[in-house]
Amino acid sequence: MDEVSLPAEAEALTGEQIAALLVGAAVWAPSLHNTQPWLFGTDGRELSLYADRGRQLMAADPVGRQMLISCGAALFTARLALRSAGRIPQTQILPDPADPLLVARLSWPRRAAPSDYELRLFDQVLRRRTHRGGFDPLPLAPELLEVLRAGAKRDGAQLRVITDEAAAATLAATVQTAEQALRLDRRRVQEMAAWVSPPGSPRRDGLPATAYPARPVHTFPDFPGRDFARGRGWGLPPASTDAAARAAGVVCLLTTAADRPADWVNAGQALQRILLTSTACGVAAALHSQPLELSWLRESIRIQLGGGSYPQLLLRLGTVIQTAASVRRPPASVLFQHRSVTGLSVDRLAD
Ligand SMILES: Cc1cc2nc3c(=O)[nH]c(=O)nc-3n(C[C@H](O)[C@H](O)[C@H](O)COP(=O)(O)O)c2cc1C
Repeated sequence: MDEVSLPAEAEALTGEQIAALLVGAAVWAPSLHNTQPWLFGTDGRELSLYADRGRQLMAADPVGRQMLISCGAALFTARLALRSAGRIPQTQILPDPADPLLVARLSWPRRAAPSDYELRLFDQVLRRRTHRGGFDPLPLAPELLEVLRAGAKRDGAQLRVITDEAAAATLAATVQTAEQALRLDRRRVQEMAAWVSPPGSPRRDGLPATAYPARPVHTFPDFPGRDFARGRGWGLPPASTDAAARAAGVVCLLTTAADRPADWVNAGQALQRILLTSTACGVAAALHSQPLELSWLRESIRIQLGGGSYPQLLLRLGTVIQTAASVRRPPASVLFQHRSVTGLSVDRLAD
């Protein structure tokens, strides 16, 4: 990238304004149950991203794998926001072995104008939404799938597109088995319920009633969604009266070669690149982590369908008219001056 001069408004940004821009975008990353498990610190020269252990789901995610995937998605978004402001991100992932909650340090020592691709991706940050349901029965362009695969690789992950029908049916069966098991696990049910708010709630995290269907949606093969509504009548009414199962879409597994915290962060970065690229092409994604929360099912997927690599998330991609809406906490509530966030992380580590 050549160093060039930027439009006056981007040139003139102070370090604090850049940090605010990055966090304003990063909070729109996807996260497990919209827990938004992140905090940011800045000294005006760099941005530190911390995992917020107070928002980790101890029943669903006891080792914090999904928490770090969520933080990785926020990190990718912050890096993209930096590019949109004409700065070149310099990123250190998990830079301090003594502070495992410090997910990344991001600085912007040099400048270069953003490419059209980067600007187009950045435009999707607020538009992207998780889809929960079926898709139109249309194939996706093979070129898009190739771009998604190549993008995941750049972030240190693999996107495995499951083209074999029997393999897709096997994956669907793992989601069905997991969903049944999770619904019988009182601790997990209570934990998830704490992140689902009633219609009209002013809450800015968790699942609002505008984010999921009121009644189970069936796909073929059947990939059941999480039961956020729990028969309370909360959630979106069906988009049509036709109860026939819709297409499951293109089934994909996001995997990494190893299974360390840095791989989880990379998987999150790859996830957000995949989701934003898909959104830019009019393609929506449904996410399923249910079978990956049960170690025996995760291991079976790893061996049978992951080619031995570690499954981090299951995705279904397709075209559909989306109606879901989500919420986020205000960026100012998660961005701190450097010193105070370091104190926070020490407090939480001492818990
Ligand atoms: C690691 C991870 C796991 C997720 N698992 C699921 C899932 O199993 N089911 C689901 O409906 N959404 C899942 N999601 C999507 C989140 O619920 C979603 O990102 C969050 O509610 C915010 O909504 P948005 O993506 O529309 O902005 C997951 C997201 C992440 C990052």
